[in-house]
Amino acid sequence: MDCIGSIRAMEILDSRGNPTVRVSVVLDSGARGTSSVPAGASIGVNEAAELRDGDMFRYRGRGVRKAVGNVNDVLAPALMGMDVTRQVEIDDAMREIDGTANLERMGANAVLAVSQACAVAAAASNGVPLYTYLGGKDAVRLPMPMINVINGGKHADSSLDMQEFMIVPIGAPSFSEALRYGVEIFHALARILGTRGYTSAVGDEGGFAPLLTSNEEAFDLIMEAIVAAGYRPGVDICLALDAAAASFFRDGNYWLSRTGYRSKTSVQLIELYQQWVHKYPIVSIEDGIAESDPAGLRELMTALGHQIQIMGDDLVVTNPEFIARAIEQGSCNAALIKLNQIGTVSAAIAAVELCCRAHWHYAVAHRSGETEDTFIADFAVAMNASHIKTGSVCRGERTAKYNRLLEIEGELGARALFGHDARSR
Ligand code: PGA
Ligand code: ZN
Repeated sequence: MDCIGSIRAMEILDSRGNPTVRVSVVLDSGARGTSSVPAGASIGVNEAAELRDGDMFRYRGRGVRKAVGNVNDVLAPALMGMDVTRQVEIDDAMREIDGTANLERMGANAVLAVSQACAVAAAASNGVPLYTYLGGKDAVRLPMPMINVINGGKHADSSLDMQEFMIVPIGAPSFSEALRYGVEIFHALARILGTRGYTSAVGDEGGFAPLLTSNEEAFDLIMEAIVAAGYRPGVDICLALDAAAASFFRDGNYWLSRTGYRSKTSVQLIELYQQWVHKYPIVSIEDGIAESDPAGLRELMTALGHQIQIMGDDLVVTNPEFIARAIEQGSCNAALIKLNQIGTVSAAIAAVELCCRAHWHYAVAHRSGETEDTFIADFAVAMNASHIKTGSVCRGERTAKYNRLLEIEGELGARALFGHDARSR
C-alpha cells in the first residue's frame, strides 16, 4: 500500500494562453505523479463545470486560483493518507465533498487534475507505465488517429461552419505509419493552400484555418492533398467530420454562413451530409446534429447510422447516464471520451465500459485548449479505444500525445496491435 502524502495544485497556462490547473501528488514511498487539465471551447451544455475565478482584473475572469485553492485547502487534507490505488474511493470522496452533480463547487478542473495525478502516481508506485496500470497487461492496442487538418467553427477565424475536418489513415499497418501518412498529407495540404493563395496559419487544434469559400472546398483540398502525398482516398485514407452542430443551431434551424446565411432544417442538413458521404470517403460524423434536437438526431441515425460512425460528443459528454440514454434511444453509435467532461478518471472508465457493452467505437479525445500533458495517450491505450482524437500533427500540445503514443508503440514492440476496423462498426 502506498498512501497519499501530499497534493499540491498550481495555476499554469493552456495552449490558448488561458489559465488551467496542474496537480502534483507525492506518495509516502516518494513516488510522484503530476497531471494538468485541458479546457474546451465548444462545450456541451451538460458537461462537468470548470471553476473560473471571475475576477475581471486577472486573466479577464479566467483565472483558476479558486480551483487551485480548493485542491490545496479542501481536497488535499481530505485525501491525505488514502491508498492511492483506490481510484474509485478517491474520486467518490471528491465527488462527495463537492456535493453537486456537475462538480461546480470544487470545479471539475480541480477534481480531474487530482484524479489524474493520483493515477499517474499510482502507476509510478507500481513501477509500470500508466497504460498498463489503468488497462492491465492486455492493454497493447494503439488507437487509430483522427487527425484534424482543417479547423473551423469555434476553433478558427476561418468561418467554416464545420469545426473539424479530419483524416483517418485506415490503410496504415501501424500507429507510427498512420502518423507518417497524416504528416505527409498535412504538408501536402500546406503546399496546396500556398499555391491557391491561402494562408497556412493554423487554428486552435493545429489544423489549417484558411478563409475558404465553402465546407466542400475544405473536403476537396484535403482530397487533393491525399493524392498529392501519394495515398488513395477511401483505401489508405478516409475522412471524418466534427460538425459541432450546436454552434450553428439557433431557433430550431442550422445556420450555415458559407451558404449565404441560409438556414437549414435538420432534414436539409442531413441531406447535405448524405451528399458528402456519397461524394467523399467519410467514415465518421461527430455532433452532426445539435444535442437539443432529438428528432434531428433520430433522423441522422436513420439516414446514415447503418453506414458510418455517428459520434456523440456534446450529445453524451462522457457521462454514463447520457451514454446509457443514447444507447437506449439509438441517438448515436459511437462516442467521444473526454475526461474533463465528466471530471474523474473512474467516471470516464465507467463511460468506456458502457460503450464496450454496446459494442460502440469510442475515441479518447483532447480539448481545443490543451497542455503538454500526455495522460490521454496512455488512457486511450489503457481503454482499448478504437480512435484517438488529438488534433493536428503540429503544435506541441498536440504532438506531445502523438509522441507519447510512439513511445508506447516502441515499448510494446512486437506485442503492439493497431486500430480496429475503422470502416465497420
Ligand atoms: P472543444 O472541441 O474542446 O472546443 O470542445 C473539441 C470537440 O468538439 O471535439
Ligand atoms: Zn466534438
